Amino acid sequence: MRASLILSAICAAGAASPIAAVGDDTTYVVEAGPASLTPWNVWPSWSNASNVSNYSNLSNATAQVAAPKLEVIVTGGQYTMSNWSSEVHVTRLFNQSTLNATQLARVAQSVEGALDGGEYTGVVVLGAGRALEALGFYLSVVVDTPENVVVASALEDGVATAWSAWSWFRGALVVDGGVIYSGAAYSPSAPGWGALGSVIAGAPRYWFTPAWPTLLAPWGSLRVNFTNFTDIVPAPAANATNSSSSMTVPVVFDGYYDPSIVSSLSTAIAGLVVVSSGNSTASDLTSSNIPVVFTSDDGATILPEDVPAGAIAGGDLSPLKAQLLLSIALSKDVKETSSLQQLFA
Ligand SMILES: *[C@@H]1O[C@H](CO)[C@@H](O)[C@H](O)[C@H]1NC(C)=O
Ligand SMILES: *[C@@H]1O[C@H](CO)[C@@H](O)[C@H](O)[C@H]1NC(C)=O
Ligand SMILES: *[C@@H]1O[C@H](CO)[C@@H](O)[C@H](O)[C@H]1NC(C)=O
Ligand SMILES: *[C@@H]1O[C@H](CO)[C@@H](O)[C@H](O)[C@H]1NC(C)=O
Ligand SMILES: *[C@@H]1O[C@H](CO)[C@@H](O)[C@H](O)[C@H]1NC(C)=O
Ligand SMILES: *[C@@H]1O[C@H](CO)[C@@H](O)[C@H](O)[C@H]1NC(C)=O
Ligand SMILES: *[C@@H]1O[C@H](CO)[C@@H](O)[C@H](O)[C@H]1NC(C)=O
Ligand SMILES: *[C@@H]1O[C@H](CO)[C@@H](O)[C@H](O)[C@H]1NC(C)=O
Ligand SMILES: *[C@@H]1O[C@H](CO)[C@@H](O)[C@H](O)[C@H]1NC(C)=O
Ligand SMILES: *[C@@H]1O[C@H](CO)[C@@H](O)[C@H](O)[C@H]1NC(C)=O
Ligand SMILES: *[C@@H]1O[C@H](CO)[C@@H](O)[C@H](O)[C@H]1NC(C)=O
Ligand SMILES: *[C@@H]1O[C@H](CO)[C@@H](O)[C@H](O)[C@H]1NC(C)=O
Repeated sequence: MRASLILSAICAAGAASPIAAVGDDTTYVVEAGPASLTPWNVWPSWSNASNVSNYSNLSNATAQVAAPKLEVIVTGGQYTMSNWSSEVHVTRLFNQSTLNATQLARVAQSVEGALDGGEYTGVVVLGAGRALEALGFYLSVVVDTPENVVVASALEDGVATAWSAWSWFRGALVVDGGVIYSGAAYSPSAPGWGALGSVIAGAPRYWFTPAWPTLLAPWGSLRVNFTNFTDIVPAPAANATNSSSSMTVPVVFDGYYDPSIVSSLSTAIAGLVVVSSGNSTASDLTSSNIPVVFTSDDGATILPEDVPAGAIAGGDLSPLKAQLLLSIALSKDVKETSSLQQLFA
């Protein structure tokens, strides 16, 4: 009993920090203490993102970034004017229950604009419940920052989370129903996925020290090999005649389709996301013209050996997330199966 307790404590430290080292079979050497678990020790490769000395207080749970100042971007949901302090600035973009690609790009541009100016330490995006997954995932992928990007359905919870220095270095977050999730993992169809903590008495309480979702790790393939994903271009409104339809990436459920359906559609669509049930190696939904990504809507992980030859395995991503990631990739001219598989791995 005691041994397993010690082991799990060490595993927790190890997961958070590469400083932890495993000795021989019985001796575990953990040099990390709370004071050394700063983001700078945990992510030494994040060398020039910001001025190190400014964030040294992040090892102190009670400390705050010197002067938090937040931009709130309203895209939908319930918003009533409130007496925020002068440190919270509100911009109303839309009042939509769901957001299309043009609108997501617009939100991302506003988020980047607020953070690039250096005036704000974090951004809260208020969204309707149905838009949270798309906002959280899209912003996770296209906004690369250690600062607080928080998507929320309730503004108070979002502001409380974005106010805290403990929300840094986690990628974009989603706060829904008082629970804080990683935006890269949050999925209403997989309850509990990506839960990191909760908002209690107006402040976030995290169950884990800061860590990037694997997808967003500074050394991961998204950030290393697909750096242009963070160049947010205005959605192609000017050239909408061709591009809006040619960028369409529908989601279909794997089933009994005429195998010719994809080839007859492939002039009209840019890619396809298939929701598969179990092992799909025999699926007829394949194409040599457009990328086809297989996903699961029940939290199952789709591996390359589970999909037909030439198709892309969506890994842990939900159909919606796979659709967003494939759309972003296609908008950057990333079409090769091998490149896309590296991205979805
Ligand atoms: C660090 O700075 C160098 C040179 O300015 C730049 O090329 C590189 O992209 C930066 N890295 C990050 C993670 O910002
Ligand atoms: C770090 O703090 C200094 C002094 O307060 C400030 O001038 C500088 O802009 C800060 N840098 C960042 C990246 O916040
Ligand atoms: C970092 O900030 C400190 C003060 O907060 C300042 O003295 C130092 O010059 C800054 N370093 C860089 C590289 O900006
Ligand atoms: C770090 O915390 C100490 C003590 O609370 C404070 O004096 C100092 O200004 C803080 N530094 C920064 C960069 O916020
Ligand atoms: C955390 O901050 C509090 C208040 O600023 C301070 O008293 C305490 O010494 C700090 N703890 C560490 C480990 O820096
Ligand atoms: C959007 O419109 C609805 C209905 O008029 C309203 O209840 C809601 O507060 C609005 N939301 C925002 C963010 O303006
Ligand atoms: C908002 O703040 C102003 C000035 O601080 C105050 O006069 C007003 O009563 C406040 N309104 C509410 C609803 O608290
Ligand atoms: C997104 O919605 C807006 C407003 O409803 C519309 O003007 C725009 O054309 C749509 N964009 C796409 C790509 O469908
Ligand atoms: C980047 O792409 C190259 C070439 O495909 C590959 O060898 C390398 O492992 C990739 N890097 C990451 C971090 O995935
Ligand atoms: C729109 O099309 C024109 C002509 O084909 C091209 O020069 C321009 O770069 C396109 N704009 C965008 C935003 O794709
Ligand atoms: C799916 O089927 C293929 C071919 O029959 C097999 O190689 C693969 O291991 C199967 N995957 C799973 C998860 O059962
Ligand atoms: C974006 O980066 C990828 C990977 O490096 C590259 O294949 C693609 O051509 C780039 N897209 C654009 C529009 O430059």
